[in-house]
Amino acid sequence: MTGNPAPNASVQEAPGGSPRAVPLLEARHVSKYFGSVIALRDVSLEVRAGEVTCVLGDNGAGKSSLIKTLSGVFPPDEGEILVDGNPIHFSGPREARAHGIATVFQDLATVPMMSVWRNFFLGQEPTRSFGPIRFLDQGRAKDVMKVEMAKMGINVSDPNQYVGTLSGGERQAVAISRAVYFGARVLILDEPTSALGVRQSGIVLKYVLQARDMGRGVILITHNPHHAYPVGDRFVLLKLGRVMGSYTKDQINVAELTQMMAGGEELAQLSHELQRLGPDQPAIREAAQELAQDAAGEI
Ligand SMILES: Nc1ncnc2c1ncn2[C@@H]1O[C@H](COP(=O)(O)OP(=O)(O)O)[C@@H](O)[C@H]1O
Ligand SMILES: [Mg+2]
Repeated sequence: MTGNPAPNASVQEAPGGSPRAVPLLEARHVSKYFGSVIALRDVSLEVRAGEVTCVLGDNGAGKSSLIKTLSGVFPPDEGEILVDGNPIHFSGPREARAHGIATVFQDLATVPMMSVWRNFFLGQEPTRSFGPIRFLDQGRAKDVMKVEMAKMGINVSDPNQYVGTLSGGERQAVAISRAVYFGARVLILDEPTSALGVRQSGIVLKYVLQARDMGRGVILITHNPHHAYPVGDRFVLLKLGRVMGSYTKDQINVAELTQMMAGGEELAQLSHELQRLGPDQPAIREAAQELAQDAAGEI
């Protein structure tokens, strides 16, 4: 196991006889239907303290539906959710948060036209009393925010700066450090890197590792195996609402993961299409070659 387990993680005997921590959060045989659409069918997943569980799959695979059942947005139609090994029925996202499950949604993570420090607290600002009157303790709020962001390796020189002026990676950092500060034991990130470039994605992945090393359990949702593999301890592949495969890191390599994700044949077809579209353009040729390599499982 990588990272530091949470100090209070309870321990049980694994089938092999060695003690293992009980998962912080677990889905067991979860199904979710929207009318005739099967969003999830018999999906199981677990996240442990100090581990990163990656959920991979194309658009429509059921990734968001899965995290919505885990974060209390809606209940599963079948199966169960367990916190610390105990079955639970969340009445809503607020109750999930009270159990330390924090979800960072891709687009709603921060409010662009609001300062960094206000975004960090979003209604949970520290207050100070003067007789019967309570004041917002702005000074303290800004200090806390600066310290917490510094832990993520980000130096915020002006707390009044609008979040909208930060880079995509920094915005994700505000959302992640806020979740960690307010006591999240499980951090769920829905496609945090999908709108980011290579360097910014790298920074977000570094925060994922930082949260892991603080003993948090992390669920990272992505459709990019090259983002998932370096940081993940477990990989759950979804396709059309079903689990295609569930692996620990020592059971699969990045080439196999990539192949399973897209399906080698589909990648080869796409590579062929690209080559046909732009045989004279170096960028297209390069992309086509990369796809062909992925399809063949060479990285
Ligand atoms: N609220 C909803 N109402 C009806 N269908 C939905 C709803 N949410 C998701 N779906 C359907 O469930 C399937 C899985 O969607 P989703 O979980 O959003 O996938 P992903 O996040 O992997 O792209 C899709 O076919 C989608 O259209
Ligand atoms: Mg989604």
